[in-house]
Amino acid sequence: MKLLVVGSGGREHALAWTLAQSPRVQKVFVAPGNGGTATEPGLENVPLAAIPTLVAFAKRENVYLTVVGPEAPLAAGIVDQFRAAGLRVFGPTRAAAQLESSKDFAKRFMVRHSIPTARHATFTSASEARAYVEREGAPIVVKADGLAAGKGVVVAATVEEARAAIDSMLLGQRLGEAGARVVIEECLVGEEASFIVLCDGAHALPLATSQDHKRLLDGDLGPNTGGMGAYSPAPVITPEIHARVMREVIQPTLQGMAKDGIPYSGFLYAGLMIDANGNAKTLEFNCRLGDPETQPILVRLKSDLLGVLDHALAGTLDRAATEWDRRTSIGVVLAAHGYPEEPRKGDPIAGLPAANPDCRVFHAGTRIEAGRLVTHGGRVLCVTALGDSLRVARSRAYEAIAQIRFDGMQYRKDIGHRGLKRH
Ligand SMILES: Nc1ncnc2c1ncn2[C@@H]1O[C@H](COP(=O)(O)OP(=O)(O)OP(=O)(O)O)[C@@H](O)[C@H]1O
Ligand SMILES: [Mg+2]
Repeated sequence: MKLLVVGSGGREHALAWTLAQSPRVQKVFVAPGNGGTATEPGLENVPLAAIPTLVAFAKRENVYLTVVGPEAPLAAGIVDQFRAAGLRVFGPTRAAAQLESSKDFAKRFMVRHSIPTARHATFTSASEARAYVEREGAPIVVKADGLAAGKGVVVAATVEEARAAIDSMLLGQRLGEAGARVVIEECLVGEEASFIVLCDGAHALPLATSQDHKRLLDGDLGPNTGGMGAYSPAPVITPEIHARVMREVIQPTLQGMAKDGIPYSGFLYAGLMIDANGNAKTLEFNCRLGDPETQPILVRLKSDLLGVLDHALAGTLDRAATEWDRRTSIGVVLAAHGYPEEPRKGDPIAGLPAANPDCRVFHAGTRIEAGRLVTHGGRVLCVTALGDSLRVARSRAYEAIAQIRFDGMQYRKDIGHRGLKRH
């Protein structure tokens, strides 16, 4: 059978590669894909992005199942349109995707269903937002309501910084429509983790846990990025905390969405802040897999992903199980010159190591230009490795990185530092 993965990042390369391992799968189309999915055995790029053209393609090619990687097409209603055309697709509807596409929607939802999260208020008026910040004091977090590709959140250390963020979003329209409403919330402290589950509207099946690294530079310094690396599992999620998150966050979210008349199916990503006492609060929901978390998570998956997705579409995830490689995995992102502000394109990439069972390079911002692999986006590659310990996985990834070259290559040398500290 033929499958379709929508998207072009490292997450989609890893998803398509994983799905292609399934014995039932003949071919995985990736739309539009990247320089890695262009050459990976079993995958084929299709140069499409507009939803109606994807629907027509899936029909014409008799695609068995479509999996949507990024949030933008989900928020635009790709799942509704595929379903209306009678096509099998895994992801939330446009209404359900509001858990990510509107932070105000997500906060109101969490309050309504008693899901632990930071205290908040939502504003469209800059003067009211400023007055709230004066009353609350700093540190405080200012978030654009809509999708802003990771650029919509300011963790303000001072009231002055919070005011500047409010003004640039509400008055300066820096983020356009996405910043026309802002959510202002209490600044939480603790350690973050990514908790991702598959949902079928009624049941949730957790994937392995992971931890992302949002900042550009070592020591968690510098600007926020889409994510510079991740590892799995995240030891901060102990078995006790895992059980609590399922009970206090995931189950109430699924039940709440069903009760509100918008049952949630698809990947659901809860970004958590875990305090010193093991209390987890939800920082945000994403309506998709994380990037780069997907890369280290999926290299540990031993079960057939297509089989699990079939359960999700049938509403029988309660009867599905996943088996994981007991080893630790890590993914280190290699980013382009100028990332995240103005990534440069067109730098030739050399020295990519051949994939082996312990190390595999997933592509993101790459493409093949006149027969050469060149950079074509901010996050270029994600070098993903497995090892008996985080330390071993990490050395393997950095050994592979030492062979890879492109002008302006930037990467963090401390991916996994929190996990290492716990051992
Ligand atoms: N209430 C909070 N307290 C402390 N830090 C926060 C809070 N909310 C967000 N952050 C920090 O800001 C980061 C981004 O916030 P959030 O996840 O809501 O934004 P996003 O743009 O949706 O992110 P992503 O690109 O991961 O989807 C978080 O990973 C966390 O580090
Ligand atoms: Mg988000």
